[in-house]
Amino acid sequence: MDRRLFCQSAVATGVALASAASRGFAQSSQAGRPIDEPNLFTPLELRGVTLRNRIAMSPMCQYASEDGFANEWHLAHHAARAVGGAGLLMAEATGVEPEGRITPNCLGIWKDEHVPALRRVTDFVREHGSVPGIQLAHAGVKSSRHGPLHPTPNAYVPLDEGGWMPVGPTAKRFRSDGPVPHELTIDEIRAITGSFAAAAQRSIAAGFGVVELHFAHGYLGHSFLSPLMNDRTDDYGGSFDNRVRFLLETARAVRRALPEDAPLFVRLSCTDWVEGGWTIDDSVKASSLLAEEGVDLIDCSTGGATRNANIPVGPDYQVPFAEQIRREAGIATGAVGLITEPAQAEAIIAEGRADLILMGRQFLREPHWAHRAWVEFKSETPPPIAKEYAWALAETRRK
Ligand SMILES: Cc1cc2nc3c(=O)[nH]c(=O)nc-3n(C[C@H](O)[C@H](O)[C@H](O)COP(=O)(O)O)c2cc1C
Repeated sequence: MDRRLFCQSAVATGVALASAASRGFAQSSQAGRPIDEPNLFTPLELRGVTLRNRIAMSPMCQYASEDGFANEWHLAHHAARAVGGAGLLMAEATGVEPEGRITPNCLGIWKDEHVPALRRVTDFVREHGSVPGIQLAHAGVKSSRHGPLHPTPNAYVPLDEGGWMPVGPTAKRFRSDGPVPHELTIDEIRAITGSFAAAAQRSIAAGFGVVELHFAHGYLGHSFLSPLMNDRTDDYGGSFDNRVRFLLETARAVRRALPEDAPLFVRLSCTDWVEGGWTIDDSVKASSLLAEEGVDLIDCSTGGATRNANIPVGPDYQVPFAEQIRREAGIATGAVGLITEPAQAEAIIAEGRADLILMGRQFLREPHWAHRAWVEFKSETPPPIAKEYAWALAETRRK
């Protein structure tokens, strides 16, 4: 984060703490003697699942799989953050079909053979008190690209080098150097909905406690929602009702496939940040409809439908969307995007702007962020770090 943005964040956080002071939290923290517990460390109950705190790792592609399989890297990535105290760990965008992967090295869950390696990860995560979640995804027109570690990062993978034909609502190139995607037929759209439902069932078999549908960032789900990407004239394009049809049908099919006590999240790009694109008002309407379908939380991201958006990136820049959806659609929300500091995260929860904080890059820098927050707040809750470390760190905390 550049220094200017950091300073803005500090100012914003100061305001938030001042208002929290009236409820005793900031006073207690300043006095070094907790009166109330930080809101960040209150559990979050969703259906039959209780997160031990409001701190979640945001889904982050690792580009470390072969044929979709999880391996030692995925275990290490999740294990470190479970040990470090996160309440929820959302696994990266995971392909519900091989052609739904962004790159040939993305994680997948399109066949039963994927389940045991994922189970190893979820067993460890649960043993250490975090809830394992999985983001189910289809990359649509943005699929079949090389990952960041390839010599030509982000380039489309040619068909004769193991790539595949990207698919979308419309046969329209996303990038001038990319292929013209195949326009999905209605039968093909419904088959992909079926793949999401089958992947949700496998996710439960693999031990995941939360399932999230990726309908953001210009991938297949979002590309149906956004007028910038969807030019269809049939039941899946045109009007708002038609553009949300794939979203609602997929949410319904996945909800049916999940046990009653398993929470379902949807990640939306709450705005395209471009005139004529998907808007926050559309997101509020869609979120209300998703709540009726049994979705439990909207994970509020933005952007990705066009490369021409001017996005005002800075601390908390996506929080207003989580706040508005929570207030107007009456559904729990997750806030994400440049949330890096404990006081910043605490203010978002304390002020009722979101129910859950998701962090991406800060969790890469600092796997034990939740424990740091717990120390800074002098929280009286049990330390959110593995017992194998907690006994040793308790001594440090007394000093
Ligand atoms: C390495 C990396 C991989 C990501 N992969 C995904 C992903 O698989 N699914 C997704 O919805 N967002 C993905 N994102 C976006 C993050 O989940 C998050 O929304 C974004 O980084 C903003 O949060 P941050 O400022 O805390 O990093 C990724 C981000 C990073 C840095």
